[in-house]
Amino acid sequence: MILSDGKVELVRRHNKVVYQDGNRLVKVFNEQKPGSDVFNEALNDARVSEAGGRVPKVLEVSQIKDGEWEGSWALALKFIPGSTLEELIQQDKSNLEEYLEMFVQLQINIQTADAPLLNRQKDKLRRMINGCKTIDPTVRYDLQMRLDGLKGGTKVCHGDFVASNVIIPDDGSSPYVCDWAHVTAGVPEVDAAQTYLLLQVKHPERADMYLDMYSKMSDTPKQLIFHWVPVVAAAELARGRQKREKFLRNQVESVFNDV
Ligand SMILES: Nc1ncnc2c1ncn2[C@@H]1O[C@H](COP(=O)(O)OP(=O)(O)OP(=O)(O)O)[C@@H](O)[C@H]1O
Ligand SMILES: [Mg+2]
Repeated sequence: MILSDGKVELVRRHNKVVYQDGNRLVKVFNEQKPGSDVFNEALNDARVSEAGGRVPKVLEVSQIKDGEWEGSWALALKFIPGSTLEELIQQDKSNLEEYLEMFVQLQINIQTADAPLLNRQKDKLRRMINGCKTIDPTVRYDLQMRLDGLKGGTKVCHGDFVASNVIIPDDGSSPYVCDWAHVTAGVPEVDAAQTYLLLQVKHPERADMYLDMYSKMSDTPKQLIFHWVPVVAAAELARGRQKREKFLRNQVESVFNDV
């Protein structure tokens, strides 16, 4: 892949840079990122799209040919002109409830689709938690016991469903959801626990409103969601994002509470 001189940097994170390059959105990963992860993200995009999800179309996965990123793996998607739902919430905080309702409905709609060929939620969580040696082995054992009780669902679970991954197109068409690196086939309430946890970390003022809405709109008791919070908190720790690490560790240790 060749990037043009007119590319515009949108996001820079520890392991990647995201550019708009004409009508392409290009995610360029650093050399530590295995090519298999990048192909997996593209495969996830294709599978979710085939299951009926509204996902920006994958254009290409290849290594960058020259310049500062020469040799890095990159994923090119169709660029969707619009704003993220997070940007809209930030610009118009008075309508938070309305935006959150749209957000929850979108998540529930996604979770109605079956995509059994995606990676399995239970396997992914098990692998991540087992690999996180900073969690005490006794705690990890209890988390694994809890995971043993997880039924192997086949519903599309985004795995990182937050408002910055929802794009509201300028042309007034339905929202797109991006960033499918963590999607699995699984059980919706685990995905809801994940979003609840991410909101507690990034936007705590929205977390309880989200939980209320998700519970009522999907007819899911909150207890079923709380049950998975220690497990998804452990997986979040395993990702090493480090944001509010102490809070996450407390959530993980709540596995000992009788939920
Ligand atoms: N196809 C697209 N069209 C327009 N904008 C996009 C598109 N895909 C992503 N974006 C924008 O780029 C931002 C970053 O992309 P993305 O969410 O895929 O990466 P990320 O958040 O860095 O990934 P991760 O959560 O894996 O670290 C999004 O929040 C969105 O603003
Ligand atoms: Mg994102």
